[in-house]
Formats: sequence, structure tokens, C-alpha cells
Amino acid sequence: MVTQLLYRAGPAVLKRNSCILARAFRVQSCYSSSTTEPKIAAKHPFKVDLEGGKRYSWCTCGYSKKQPFCDGSHKKSSLGLSPLRFTLEEAKTVWLCGCKQTHNPPYCDGTHKQDFVQEAEVPAQQ
Ligand code: FES
Repeated sequence: MVTQLLYRAGPAVLKRNSCILARAFRVQSCYSSSTTEPKIAAKHPFKVDLEGGKRYSWCTCGYSKKQPFCDGSHKKSSLGLSPLRFTLEEAKTVWLCGCKQTHNPPYCDGTHKQDFVQEAEVPAQQ
């Protein structure tokens, strides 16, 4: 219930409460504190086949060249964001957020359909 409310509150509240959310989703780390918004990396989610028991790092800053996963680019940006690390119990096909605006990280929640994402400039390779 609390997590449902946080998802609907938006990215700023999400970041402040990211450790609570990290526990709710059994992820192994949470965002670092930051007042800077992530870059919109793509206007769509990424369909990926993930393995059970494997640790993944979802890009939160939007600068990774290996979207939707982290490539270490956050270390060069000044956003102060860290990747979201998560592990699935079983193999599963999931849709990971590419716009970095989801209220349900690392999963797409449809936020990319909003105008501010669809009208944003994104890297050419997306
Ligand atoms: S790609 Fe970010 S919410 Fe769908």
C-alpha cells in the first residue's frame, strides 16, 4: 500500500523513498540522493529476457550506452545517481523502462507515453 502511493507520487518522491521501494522490490541497492533528474534515454521500454538468480544493474541516469543496463556512465555524469541493482527469483521476460521516468523502477509503467517523454530529444541510436 505504501509503495503504491509512492509510485504515484512521482520521481522526486520516489528518489527520497527509494530505499523503501528497493526493499519492496527486493533490489539490492537504491538511488543515491540527488536533486538532478535523469536523462531520457529512450521513448520506449526494452523487452529483455532475464535469468533467475542473476544480478542486473538497471541504468538510472540515462547516460548508459547499453540501455537499459548500466555501463558505468553515471560515474562521469554529475547527476549523483547509481544503478538500481535487482535479481529475479526465476527467469522471466520483462519490460524495463528506457525513459527513466517510471514510478515502478526498473519496470515500465507507461509513463513514456506522456508528452514530456515523447517530445524529448533522445540519442540517435535509440
Ligand atoms: S519506458 Fe519508461 S515508463 Fe515506459
